[in-house]
Amino acid sequence: MTTELRSTDFVKLIESPEMLDYGVYLKCDKLLSCQKPISTLSTHDEMQFQIVHQVEELWMKLIAFSLTEVMELMPSQRSFKILTLFNRVHLLQKMMIEQLAVLETMSPKDYQEVRLQLGNGSGQESPGFRTLLKMPATLWRLFKEHYLDKDGLSVKQIYDDKYAHDEHYAIAEALIEFDEQFQIFRWRHLFLINRSIGISAKSLKGRPVDLLKKGASQRFFPELWDVRSEMTDSWGGEYGVKRASISGNS
Ligand code: HEM
Repeated sequence: MTTELRSTDFVKLIESPEMLDYGVYLKCDKLLSCQKPISTLSTHDEMQFQIVHQVEELWMKLIAFSLTEVMELMPSQRSFKILTLFNRVHLLQKMMIEQLAVLETMSPKDYQEVRLQLGNGSGQESPGFRTLLKMPATLWRLFKEHYLDKDGLSVKQIYDDKYAHDEHYAIAEALIEFDEQFQIFRWRHLFLINRSIGISAKSLKGRPVDLLKKGASQRFFPELWDVRSEMTDSWGGEYGVKRASISGNS
């Protein structure tokens, strides 16, 4: 008969689990000691605060690494592989966005306990986020060199004049999807802040949180966004800016 364990026994088990081959290969001993020891947590919620941030850092590491492979494949136009990698990146970005909701299970009052532990640390110092912010410039240069200039194409031609829905178009759309998901992450994160500390509060660096809205409006690939409005306005010019009502009532 096995003895029933108590919550204190589980706490020991959580902190010092037995390492079999699986745990050794994945370095679970190191991974599971990357969080504060349970006895030193300021509040139970501090564990989830650390884990959610650490998981997000891991996803950003994988996103950045996948994008380095995209960069290596662009010169040889390995489009199918590039699209598979972008699909992975987009799925990871969506997971990152969804996972922010976990932290909304922490009350504003519990977060205040955690906040006291952070010094003046800020998400703007996130190593993964800072690496990702540097990548769009390289991605755009490579796309321009190997999918536009090499084939004598412009963005407008891919989307309109020579529209073929081919790999040039598909990769441009993969880039804009990356851009869009990045912005969605930033906006979703603003809602998380709104739930935890309120949007008009000051950050730990004393800056108004509202300033984050500026970053959330940043576009990595403006040419891919602008071409849409240009096309819509030019098509609109063909049938008139204001169209006739189809109901006859408006
Ligand atoms: C309760 C949860 C959270 C709160 C209250 C919070 C709060 C904040 C605040 C106030 C800032 C602005 C920093 C400044 O002005 O110095 C910030 C930035 C940031 N945070 Fe969070 N955050 C939370 C969770 C997260 C999570 C889970 C991530 C995951 C990666 C994250 C990533 C970031 C990033 C990347 C920035 C910089 C954003 C940009 O520059 O657009 N935060 N956060």
